[in-house]
Amino acid sequence: MNRRDWLKLAVIFGGTAAVASRASFGSSVGTLDVGTNAELKALRDVAASRGLIFGAAIPKKNLLGDPLFSRLVSRQCGILVPELELKWEALRPAPDQFDFSGGDWLYQYAQTNRMLFRGHTLVWEAALPAWFASAVNARNGKSILLDHISTVVRHYAGKMHSWDVVNEAFGFEDGRPDGLKSTPWLRFIGPEYIEDAFHAAHEADPAAALFYNENWLEPETDSSEKKRRAVLALLTRLKAKGVPIHGLGIQSHIYAEGNVTGPNYWRFLQEVADLGLTIIISELDVRDKNLPASTEVRDRVVAKQYYEYLSFVLKCTAVKAVLTWGLSDRYTWIARSQPRSDGAPVRPLPYDPNLVPTAARWAVQRALEEAQAR
Ligand code: G3I
Repeated sequence: MNRRDWLKLAVIFGGTAAVASRASFGSSVGTLDVGTNAELKALRDVAASRGLIFGAAIPKKNLLGDPLFSRLVSRQCGILVPELELKWEALRPAPDQFDFSGGDWLYQYAQTNRMLFRGHTLVWEAALPAWFASAVNARNGKSILLDHISTVVRHYAGKMHSWDVVNEAFGFEDGRPDGLKSTPWLRFIGPEYIEDAFHAAHEADPAAALFYNENWLEPETDSSEKKRRAVLALLTRLKAKGVPIHGLGIQSHIYAEGNVTGPNYWRFLQEVADLGLTIIISELDVRDKNLPASTEVRDRVVAKQYYEYLSFVLKCTAVKAVLTWGLSDRYTWIARSQPRSDGAPVRPLPYDPNLVPTAARWAVQRALEEAQAR
């Protein structure tokens, strides 16, 4: 590690003493042993032994074109989420067409490998097809949305572990007191688009577990606390009105150096659990953007965050599943959206670009092993 790297770590951890203690270990992170000497067990099996589910979001092309990666995914994952294939952009080539080919391929893959299958996502403002902007408006928005939900959920009826019905509805930049983002759905239908979507999904598959999925709920910051309060208000209102909602997906795209184990987040987890909702850690990865260049140091700090975060959330027994967003650094959206300023490849996932388990992989295993059975 060079001097700049040391200084960077010192800033992140607030002191050179902390840096020295964290940097001086081999297979452990500071005083924390993430278990790199333990017996390697499939994460799906470790999770299952605790009544939990472990899995990942992966796009078809990464499984189809990369047999080694595919073998890793099928060995480690007990649940699969199409990273792209069930979004409007993929499903809706034209206003009057549905293309289920990608989603169906992944469903077959999941079946073949005895994996559960999770749907993502029916309502989002992003990943919309090119035709959307000119074809959808306040007159037809509601019927187009409900028809989409009904057709897609019916197509997979009886096959889904769960559906992310609505994704990322909140964001305070639009100045609404309820915190809802001014998405096309909000503008065309009004705030009731959320409950309309859940009712439509329930009608199409009454047995499906229906989730609201959201980002930035984890950090112990004022802006995340504001979002937690807004999301809790929504969930409370939906439950009080008898809207068919069964769970909350907490995305957990977290930073290696962020505080994501604070008392306000813990209170939120308990409040969601008290509503009778299941919680899924739905899109976990740990950004190493602000860490020093040394891969050894980065891997230790990332592993520590994986371990501490998972140990923390898994203390809440309403948390029933952990899914990472991708499985190997060979394929990760972080490489495009949050690259490092020094150009070094990012390492946010449990397996490195060569599919070798990193310290983070061991940290996940240890956190799952230590979780209370549910
Ligand atoms: O497939 C084309 C490829 O042919 C083309 O060369 C390339 C050029 O940019 O684009 C490719 O498509 C991209 C696709 O990822 C596959 O890499 C899309 O432009 C890009 O928008 C798409 O991004 C995905 C994004 O959602 C939007 O669908 C990310 O991979 C995916 O990880 C991300 O996932 C979201 C969750 O759904 C919701 N929560 C946040 C999470 C991360 O943003």
